[in-house]
Amino acid sequence: MYETLCIRGGARLSGEVAVSGGKNAAVAIIPAALLAHSPCVIENLPNIEDVHVLIKMLRYLGAEVEFENNTMRVDPTTVDKYMAPYELSRMMRASYYLAPVLLGLFGRAVVPLPGGCDLGARPIDQTIKGMMALGADVKVERGAITVSAVELCGSEVYLDMPSVGATVNTMLTAVSAKGNTIIYNGAKEPHIVDLANFLNSMGARVKGAGTDVIRVQGGRPLRGSNYMIIPDQIETGTLMIAAAATGGDVVITGAIPTHMEALSAKLLEMGVFVGEEDDRIHIRSDGNLRSINIKTQVYPGFPTDLQQPMAALLCTANGSSTITETIFESRFRYVEELKRMGADIRVFGRTAVVDGIDRLIGAPVTATDLRAGAAMIVAGLMAEGITEISGLNYIMRGYEDIDDKLRKLGANVERVRHGR
Ligand code: EPU
Repeated sequence: MYETLCIRGGARLSGEVAVSGGKNAAVAIIPAALLAHSPCVIENLPNIEDVHVLIKMLRYLGAEVEFENNTMRVDPTTVDKYMAPYELSRMMRASYYLAPVLLGLFGRAVVPLPGGCDLGARPIDQTIKGMMALGADVKVERGAITVSAVELCGSEVYLDMPSVGATVNTMLTAVSAKGNTIIYNGAKEPHIVDLANFLNSMGARVKGAGTDVIRVQGGRPLRGSNYMIIPDQIETGTLMIAAAATGGDVVITGAIPTHMEALSAKLLEMGVFVGEEDDRIHIRSDGNLRSINIKTQVYPGFPTDLQQPMAALLCTANGSSTITETIFESRFRYVEELKRMGADIRVFGRTAVVDGIDRLIGAPVTATDLRAGAAMIVAGLMAEGITEISGLNYIMRGYEDIDDKLRKLGANVERVRHGR
């Protein structure tokens, strides 16, 4: 049995839609909860496959976990294993956040090399460097990360690039290390700040998250806390783009508009109305869009996770747009799928040139990764006729009830089951 997403394009989205909790915050905060000496309650978790997989991993490790109505209660006091399971680890990127956590608990950890979207090489050298600087012995052998330490000690770590994963892993190691750690050139993404706030709510001392320099006073005992995850920056952006793509009039609620500044600026440049008030973002468009150039950058620059849905939007803008991907080496695989719908896109190395056409035509397409799936959804909403998207499992990894949300805004979207 497999499912596809069928979209009959052309409906103008209108109404209000609430954004779910942040995936990339959730997948860092859930493993971090194991560091507490008492139960944690984490609210506003997105009900997505990546969260379900992490819950299975926590249970495998011995934690007691309940998950209902987007709220997780986790009792980590029963965790008794330091080896993460292979099958589950391979299903997502963030599984390797368990390595510093289990290292802190047991002085050792074995975590299979993580999976996640195929965006080209995704090395982990900066994570290794961070953990080693704090006194861990790290080996990557036989497809797993094996870490151990007699004692973790705070230190200074300079990251060669502001990697999200390496910043998370170094922070998570540092809270268990004796003394002070300073991370230079750390990632500044909103989920890094959310992780720091969560750790602080458990009694850690993390300062400077959201800037280049993060300071951690380690070795403090951590207790369970009650914490609410931030809204998902990329889901917010995807909904903003979908609204603009359909000439829609949509209010996105429960969002943090300041997280969206790079996208909002680009939508304004295209001729889309973007209004912001408290936690609401209003998008209105007449569908007549100007071409623009975008370059992905680390936060607060234009997020790489939004370049794919943005490419779909640019397919029918007036004129020629360029998209330059600077974060990942291979994030243009979705282009071939958009071409099935008639898009005029040429890729030159890390730059895609999108020449605006009158309209996309619905076609069978595949979500080649999570955000490629978002691109196919945006394209399907804009296109004439029916678009049938395969690879739904990718989309469900990161977007909670996306079909439901779009239907409530007036889209003709249906999940179709095939086979038994
Ligand atoms: N890099 C290295 N060495 C390292 C780590 C990273 O060379 O040790 C390079 C990578 O190859 C890449 C760049 O640095 O070229 C950025 O990688 P980063 O570590 O920041 O990315 P990540 O932690 O693997 C997270 C998100 C991604 C998001 C990126 C960039 C999670 C679970 N994943 O990945 O999210 O695209 O940051 O913001 O937080 C998604 O949600 O669809 C997604 C892919």
